[in-house]
Amino acid sequence: MKLTLKIWRQKSSIDKGSLETYPISDVSEHMSFLEMLDVLNEELIEKGIDPVAFDHDCREGICGMCSLYINGEAHGPDRRVTTCQLHMRKFKDGDTIFIEPFRANAFPVIKDLVVDRSSFDRIQQAGGYISVNTSGNTQDANSIPIPKEDADTAFDAATCIGCGACVASCKNSSAMLFVSAKVSQFSLLPQGKVEAKDRVLNMVNKMDEEGFGNCTNTGACEVECPKGISLDNISRMNREFLSANLNK
Ligand code: SF4
Ligand code: FES
Repeated sequence: MKLTLKIWRQKSSIDKGSLETYPISDVSEHMSFLEMLDVLNEELIEKGIDPVAFDHDCREGICGMCSLYINGEAHGPDRRVTTCQLHMRKFKDGDTIFIEPFRANAFPVIKDLVVDRSSFDRIQQAGGYISVNTSGNTQDANSIPIPKEDADTAFDAATCIGCGACVASCKNSSAMLFVSAKVSQFSLLPQGKVEAKDRVLNMVNKMDEEGFGNCTNTGACEVECPKGISLDNISRMNREFLSANLNK
């Protein structure tokens, strides 16, 4: 395939940035999207041009590092996949592909397609944990009975990889889907009950402090989420938040 890539280039967080055009040929349909960018970067390096900076790590849909906005969609045109799992067979010979960073005030661009998502880390630090008594009397987690439905729902919430596609897809740059997944994975389990009230209050407050927008129930986050995190988690978090505020 021959393609025309329109890629966001930005030297630093204070640079204005612009879309630059790069033709690329000999793209195999079996390549992943990131492999295609690797090939482009090799060509750019050979020509003495600064390669395109983009985030990646595991390249198998686990770590949440890859974060490209491709033709107006977070993680591109495929469903339930991350950018690293997207394959070039989703595109046609002669296509023009627009590649931009995830855009949100709380995700400032560092360089080109790399954004700073440490705001997510700070939300996690505000409450995304449980305290365990390790004095020697710790109960074996497997001996605590948990209804199957609760265990499954908690596990589904825990599959959030913190990629930020929900924020990038939301017209308000809301982080509600991410935060609600992190709240839900604990609130459904007995281990998470102890700090449940403080957790939801602290994580929601931190989310607001970091500059994410409000949720207006558009649902774009759920559509673009590579892990299929459900909007039900947002409803659960809202209930937890209300209840925590009433019982302060
Ligand atoms: S909720 Fe989905 S889109 Fe948002 S950070 Fe988690 S995995 Fe990514
Ligand atoms: S590089 Fe790890 S999820 Fe894409």
